[in-house]
Amino acid sequence: MADDIATLVLGIETTCDETAAAVVERRGDGSGRMLSNVVRSQIAEHAPFGGVVPEIAARAHVDLLDGIIASAMKEAGIGFDKLSAVAAAAGPGLIGGVIVGLTTAKAIALVSGAPLIAVNHLEAHALTPRLTDALAFPYCLFLASGGHTQIVAVLGVGNYVRIGTTVDDAIGEAFDKVAKMLGLPYPGGPQVERAARQGDATRFQFPRPMMGRPDANFSLSGLKTAVRNEASRMTPLQQQDIDDLCAGFQAAVLDSMADRLRVGLRLFAEQFGAPTALVAAGGVAANQALRAALQEVATQAETQLVMPPPALCTDNGAMIAWAGAERLALGLTDALGAPPRARWRLDENAVVPPQFANTRANS
Ligand code: KG4
Ligand code: ZN
Repeated sequence: MADDIATLVLGIETTCDETAAAVVERRGDGSGRMLSNVVRSQIAEHAPFGGVVPEIAARAHVDLLDGIIASAMKEAGIGFDKLSAVAAAAGPGLIGGVIVGLTTAKAIALVSGAPLIAVNHLEAHALTPRLTDALAFPYCLFLASGGHTQIVAVLGVGNYVRIGTTVDDAIGEAFDKVAKMLGLPYPGGPQVERAARQGDATRFQFPRPMMGRPDANFSLSGLKTAVRNEASRMTPLQQQDIDDLCAGFQAAVLDSMADRLRVGLRLFAEQFGAPTALVAAGGVAANQALRAALQEVATQAETQLVMPPPALCTDNGAMIAWAGAERLALGLTDALGAPPRARWRLDENAVVPPQFANTRANS
């Protein structure tokens, strides 16, 4: 498909606990526009279990997806015959949910005759600022969600180099686990942030994992264990204890994160030149204290901070549709046999510079 033609792409997202569909238009000049963006979070279904239950998620996607797609198409005011392509997140993620979304996309592609695009969910997060801010390559992406914590050099469509990743828990996962051990409800990130606002961050001196290391990797599990040890030492916890533990934990996360990003941005500049921006995405980016810390890191590195609006930072269909549209413009479509993938590295086809080779953890 020529790059100068306007296209309409349906995007489907089912890799975790959001069932989502959207229609996006990509204009010939490379700019984008959302025609619809329908998201149904399954938080209520999973809250009683304190986390996402894969089997429940997959069943909920089956129940919800048809209706969500119908809403997205109706809101966009188009029929399936007007679609230039059908994009679905084909991974990485919970495999049951991925199968539901990808199979549905294949059925629509088959019936409508539009090509299928099997999108990497991480690529969709990575390309979102091109939809929201028309951002030029290359930029440095910090992706922090419940499932992922990565610093990625976004050099072009399909051209990504992972500069750093977590060697254990994702940042959002650590927030959720700390919340759980302190008896706060799921999802824990917003709860921990709220409690931290009332707390004294100096009462506990928690470790700042990986601080000062020359690579840009993250580690959260030691910090999480330190919080657990402190909490069990003081049981039963008073509200003030919980607030102080949350404040101490969040401060440690932010210090460690800022250090890791400073290193990441330095490695980026050495390897790829100055980035057009530091981009933050993922549910954790909703944290106000974290936003302030990111702004400081960006300012120090003499770059701008770009954050897509919260609804496009967390999982959604528009990012999948947009990644599909960007791939379609380059003629990158997939066969109907495209497999669902629980694990799928963003930069698996990249020639990884040796200094980043130590980031070869999964997903
Ligand atoms: O991107 P997202 O909606 O879903 C995926 O994980 O893919 O991110 C959800 C994660 C959860 O771990 C949640 O606790 C965390 O983002 N989160 C936060 C905040 N809001 C959401 N973490 C810290 N502070 C917040 N305000
Ligand atoms: Zn995500």
